[in-house]
Amino acid sequence: MGGNVNVNETNAGQRIINDREFALRLIADPTSAEARQVVEAADGLRSETVGDSIHLRGLIEFSNYCRNNCLYCGLRRENGKVSRYRMTPAEIIAAAENGAELGYKTVVLQSGEDPAYSGDTIAEIVREIKKLGLVVTLSVGQRIPQDYELWRSAGAERYLMRHETADPLLYERLHPGQSLVKRVALLKILKELDYQVGTGFMVGLPGQTAETLWYDLKLAGELQAEMVGIGPFIPHPETPLGQEPGGTLEQACLMVALTRLILPQALIPATTALGSINPLGREAALRAGANVVMPNLTPKKYRPEYEIYPNKICLGEEAAECRGCITRRIESLGRTVACDPGHNSIWLGRRSGS
Ligand code: 5AD
Ligand code: SF4
Ligand code: FES
Repeated sequence: MGGNVNVNETNAGQRIINDREFALRLIADPTSAEARQVVEAADGLRSETVGDSIHLRGLIEFSNYCRNNCLYCGLRRENGKVSRYRMTPAEIIAAAENGAELGYKTVVLQSGEDPAYSGDTIAEIVREIKKLGLVVTLSVGQRIPQDYELWRSAGAERYLMRHETADPLLYERLHPGQSLVKRVALLKILKELDYQVGTGFMVGLPGQTAETLWYDLKLAGELQAEMVGIGPFIPHPETPLGQEPGGTLEQACLMVALTRLILPQALIPATTALGSINPLGREAALRAGANVVMPNLTPKKYRPEYEIYPNKICLGEEAAECRGCITRRIESLGRTVACDPGHNSIWLGRRSGS
C-alpha cells in the first residue's frame, strides 16, 4: 500500500495531528483523490458520532459597532462607510422570542466588540432570553474574564470566539495591537468557566500557508473545542485586503472534514460564508463533516449593515423565510432538523459527572 492511507481508521485524527507530511499533502491539494476520500470518511464519522440530525442556531447580529480594526473585516472601525446600529435590549429579546416561535432551541448573540453594552446589560439580556427556554450562545469578542463569569452565571452556556489564525505573526498583522497568546488565554478561561467553547479560523487568508492551516487544526484539537467554525476568507472592498484573492469551497470543506476527524464529537457549522461564495456551499460542508447551521434571526432592516464580507446571503429574507429555506435544504440532503438542544456530548458528560 506504500504511502496510501486508510482514512477510515479510527486514528485518522491522530495521524492528521502527528503526520506533518500527510496533513500538508492533503491541505495543499484539497481536490486530490486522497482529499476527497478524507471528506467522505469525515462524513461517515460524523454520521456515527453525532448522527444525521442538524442543529439550528438562530443568529442575532445585535450591534455592528466595533472597536477593532481587523484587516479583513467590513465592520473594522476605520470603515467609515458602514451605517452603524445598536439593537436595544428589548429588540434583542424580541428577536429571540421570534426565534423561539420559529422553533429554534439556541440563539447566538453576536456583535462587533462594542463596549456600549456593559457586562450587566448583557447579563440581563441573557437572563431574559433564558426565561424563554432557549440556550444562549454569546459571541461578542474579547472582554474581561469577570464579564464572561457574569454571563455564565446568568445562564449563557456557549461562547464563540474564533482564533482566526494559529500563526502568531499573521495574527498580529491581521489584528493591529492584538496577540494570539491573549486570544488563546481567553479561550482557555472560557473553558475553565465551563462554557462550551467555539473556536475556528478562516481559510485562504493572505499570507496563510498549508502549514498555518495544519496549526489551526492542531490548536482546535489542543483546546478540545466543543465547536469549530470554519469559513473562507472573502475579500471586502472597503478593507486593506479588498484586492486579495479569497478562500475556496474545496479548501474550506477539507478543513471541515479534517476538523471532524480530529474532534469527532464537535459541533461544526456549515458557515454562512461558505453559503455566500457558493449557492450550495453549506450543503457541501454538511456532507464534509458539519452538523450545524446558523440561519439569520436579525431583524431584516439591520441585516445589510452587518456586512463583515460582501455578497452575504439572506439579506433580503425574513427570519421565517430563512427558517423554511434551511429546513428544505437539510431535507434535500436526506438529513433532519434536530429536536434536542444540541449540546456537545463531552461537555454534557462532564457536567453530569459521568
Ligand atoms: N471573510 C470571511 N470571514 C470573515 N470574518 C470576518 N471578516 C471576514 C471576511 N472578510 C469572520 C471572522 C469572525 C467571524 C464572525 O466572521 O472569522 O470571527
Ligand atoms: Fe470587529 Fe470582529 Fe470584525 Fe474584527 S472580525 S473588526 S473584532 S467585528
Ligand atoms: Fe436565509 Fe436560505 S437560509 S434564505
